Amino acid sequence: MKLLVTGGCGFIGTNFIRLMLGKHPDWSIVNLDKLTYAGNRLNLADLERDEPRYRFIQGDIGDRELIMDLLADDAVDAVVNFAAESHVDRSIDDPSPFLTTNVLGAQNLFECARQRRVGRFVHISTDEVYGTLGPDGRFTEATPLAPNSPYSASKAGADLMARAYFETYGFPVIVTRCSNNYGPYQFPEKLIPLMYLAATADRPLPVYGDGLNVRDWIYVDDHCLGVELALLKGREGQAYNFGGDAEETNLAVVKTLLAILDKPESLITFVGDRPGHDRRYAMDYSLAARDLGFAPSLDFATGLSRTIDWYTANAKWLEQVQSGEYQRFMESWYEARS
Ligand code: NAD
Ligand code: DAU
Repeated sequence: MKLLVTGGCGFIGTNFIRLMLGKHPDWSIVNLDKLTYAGNRLNLADLERDEPRYRFIQGDIGDRELIMDLLADDAVDAVVNFAAESHVDRSIDDPSPFLTTNVLGAQNLFECARQRRVGRFVHISTDEVYGTLGPDGRFTEATPLAPNSPYSASKAGADLMARAYFETYGFPVIVTRCSNNYGPYQFPEKLIPLMYLAATADRPLPVYGDGLNVRDWIYVDDHCLGVELALLKGREGQAYNFGGDAEETNLAVVKTLLAILDKPESLITFVGDRPGHDRRYAMDYSLAARDLGFAPSLDFATGLSRTIDWYTANAKWLEQVQSGEYQRFMESWYEARS
């Protein structure tokens, strides 16, 4: 299988490429990534010695000429699109790049892949397109899309475009919607690595609102295995939910993390809430279980300990990714909430 993976220098893309090249000796992957603040080429630098099995290209999914070139002459059997602006808080600060990449960039990829007659396209979406839940129930694929943040609205926009491409052109697209991932290489703007950094530096841990918002956590490898299943077995035109069966309040996550690191709960600081903050996500993934054989394998306590061990062993990576741009956003965002 010859794959074009986009956004492979980000958190999930990095884990996906490592896992797939490890599992499938006969696969080759071209990784196209723009290298935004969230993309780090060094994540996969060791694989660059393995050309032609792995090749990195810096570029934008919105660049029509580049994508048409990459997909020319049956160069690619399938596309897996991870590339996105992915942080909800940044989308509140400035929605524009979210529309450019997550909607227009995705549509450009669909269009180029359609024109080049690519046989399969997996588009990575998110549980956030469904909006928010009350205390009971889970999202199914039949739940109406009701996004509440500029990020989730942009992801929902691409999901609807994927649907339209399937219905209108018979475009062979499969959409995956997963819950909150955690694990190695996650950028430290997201809850778990951000709190790890604060706790290990004995700085306050900024919990939004009352800390009782619930997320359904899944270890990143379990998500990546779901994407592989969707690629190999998914029904064209179908969206599949993936979840981790691990609903936790943010406060519980932060307390568990502090306990593992042997740090005091007095570091927890409640700060102003995220505007439009979804209260609860939970995924019903029975369709993916039935159609694809998907099931998450790692429980949250084991996955969190494994993740913390990775961050502890990779302090240099964490230091490297905290660029000037990262510092600027963090300072202005958290200053406004204190
Ligand atoms: P990330 O922010 O860590 O990585 C995104 C990557 O995309 C980066 O390497 C970045 O450089 C690249 N990129 C951004 N704009 C690009 C463009 N225009 N052209 C090419 N590359 C570009 O994100 P992530 O957490 O790895 O998420 C990957 C995908 O999975 C996203 O589509 C996200 O919506 C989805 N998702 C994430 C989660 C989660 O919990 N992290 C859960 C469900 C779905
Ligand atoms: O659900 C899937 C989504 O999960 C993905 O589509 C997104 O790309 C990914 O970023 C993630 O979105 P969340 O908004 O759920 O993740 P985040 O890590 O930003 O926040 C998790 C929860 O923790 C959320 O309820 C907000 C809260 N939080 C977050 C930060 C950064 C805090 O309380 N304090 C913080 O400083």
